[in-house]
Amino acid sequence: GQHESSPGTLAERTVESLAKYITNGKPKKIVVMTGAGISTSAGIPDFRSPDTGLYANLARLNLPYAEAVFDISYFRQNPEPFYTLAHELYPGKFRPTITHSFIRLLHEKGLLLMHFTQNIDCLDREAGVPGDKIVEAHGSFARQSCIDCSRPYPQDELKRHVDAKSIPRCDHCKGLVKPEIVFFGEQLPAEFFKNKWLPSQADLCIVMGTSLTVHPFASLPSMVREHRPRLLINKERVGGIGSGPDDVLLLGDCDAGVRKLAAACGWLDELEKLWAKT
Ligand code: APR
Repeated sequence: GQHESSPGTLAERTVESLAKYITNGKPKKIVVMTGAGISTSAGIPDFRSPDTGLYANLARLNLPYAEAVFDISYFRQNPEPFYTLAHELYPGKFRPTITHSFIRLLHEKGLLLMHFTQNIDCLDREAGVPGDKIVEAHGSFARQSCIDCSRPYPQDELKRHVDAKSIPRCDHCKGLVKPEIVFFGEQLPAEFFKNKWLPSQADLCIVMGTSLTVHPFASLPSMVREHRPRLLINKERVGGIGSGPDDVLLLGDCDAGVRKLAAACGWLDELEKLWAKT
């Protein structure tokens, strides 16, 4: 890919070198890309971690295969498994992590161009990242509608059904109601396609807590231009990030990783205070 050749912008591919690049005021347009891994320490399981991931723990829903729980054609014939899961995942009972606060800190420093997330937990919003700086590429629980006639459905009604583990149906056509989470087989929101070019304008890209296995989201990091650093904070190497002259790897827990980067930037105290208020 375009990140293999050419001398790097960073003196070294280290957190310290990246922190110098950041505090020297070089990057003004940081793009952040995240997945379920940034919410696991909030108590929300990710999808693909071997033992703790959601897909390893859905046996009780006797699905034909794990992803069926988020498959639109399967949902049409059997909405039960999704609504059982929705009861566990529904936003409101989880506290944002320090990683979510780090994204807000970037915004407060005027450095955040956009936060692309695959998560549906809205924890970045709850941490104080403004809505116009978030692209929820896989939708969220913020809205729900009928999958047949597309009529919007009242939020409080949906919440009542989620709490009671019952299945909400459209008052108008009796069709199944579904939160506007992007299921396998559905289109991503227009918001994603409108903003998917932004990474090509970024002067720093930070990827955190994602396996980068689901497209088109997984193609975002490759949109970052040559000579622009990319930082991966993740338990494992993903998406080919790490081989480029300006790729920096911070492998391990993302909360520890953002603390390490914040400390190198001299922002740790500010970050801890921000998170403590969340
Ligand atoms: N710190 C750092 N990395 C972590 C942590 C953590 N605390 N916890 C998990 N990870 C890493 C895992 O090692 C893995 O690489 O985060 C990644 C999570 O990957 P997935 O479980 O595949 O989650 P995600 O990438 O968000 O899934 C993408 O798939 O199921 C669909 O639509 C759903 O949005 C979801 C999409």
